[in-house]
Amino acid sequence: MRGANAKLRLASETIDEIDVVIKDVSMRFDTREGTVTAVDGMSFEIKRGEFVSIIGPSGCGKSTVFNIMGGLVGGYEGTVTVGGESVSGPHPSIGMVFQEESTFPWRTVIDNVAFPLEVKGVGKEERHATARKFIEMVGLSGFEQRYPSELSGGMRQRVALARTLVFEPKILLMDEPFAALDEQTRVLLGDKVLKIQQDLRQTTLLITHNITEAVQLSDRVLIMTFRPGKVKRIVDIRLPRPRSSDVVGSDAFGRYVAEIWNDLREEASRGMADAEEAARARKG
Ligand SMILES: Nc1ncnc2c1ncn2[C@@H]1O[C@H](COP(=O)(O)OP(=O)(O)OP(=O)(O)O)[C@@H](O)[C@H]1O
Ligand SMILES: [Mg+2]
Repeated sequence: MRGANAKLRLASETIDEIDVVIKDVSMRFDTREGTVTAVDGMSFEIKRGEFVSIIGPSGCGKSTVFNIMGGLVGGYEGTVTVGGESVSGPHPSIGMVFQEESTFPWRTVIDNVAFPLEVKGVGKEERHATARKFIEMVGLSGFEQRYPSELSGGMRQRVALARTLVFEPKILLMDEPFAALDEQTRVLLGDKVLKIQQDLRQTTLLITHNITEAVQLSDRVLIMTFRPGKVKRIVDIRLPRPRSSDVVGSDAFGRYVAEIWNDLREEASRGMADAEEAARARKG
């Protein structure tokens, strides 16, 4: 009897903890070469406060999943639920950081970051004070009055991150925000992201090609297959938290990287073979 009760309690707690549910999501695109199935029957969940990464070869459907979760594209099969509500357009609890650079070149750093608050009608003094807090969080204090063209690519991506954080979304979706950066900068920026997530306790989904980044930051890493994109495997990363970039040198870290690389290599090889085949078909 007690056992049954314990089970019941566990079931309801588990349901309560889940923040985002992706269920049987498929997406097809009609192109000149025919229909492309970008995503095929993907299902996964993200718990409240959890950090999940999606990793997969180029073209496997990662950005498609990202856009579907953010409510930016329709016409897919399946359902996306956020906090129990089904998503059918941009959702107020979701903040997004995009793969492409998206700062406003004509605005200074502080006015870039304060932009969402300006749209909401927050007065200048208050929005600048809030923006400063997030500029500090991403490590850009002192650069408030610079324009994006006066910053490095990595700094611009941090401005974009701060601008998303400023409206304090409960759920943060990031599509390869640091893809253009060198490995060392990326690992050190990972420390900032870890600290931010520890402080704000956001539910976070990161899309990445980079295994080190995925293992360093995540509670779980979801590996996608090459087109059509499906869930190949989900790996639990049981490295202690709070974490920092120090963990990158540990044996346990290396084992996770090797394990994920094994799965990913298969998919990346299929991707490469597919690209070569397409090139041959075009020539012949
Ligand atoms: N709007 C669209 N119209 C037609 N095809 C599309 C469209 N968007 C994506 N695709 C196709 O769907 C597949 C998945 O694309 P997607 O951008 O999701 O991949 P990705 O995993 O994000 O790749 P990358 O790692 O290079 O960013 C690709 O074959 C792409 O050509
Ligand atoms: Mg993409």
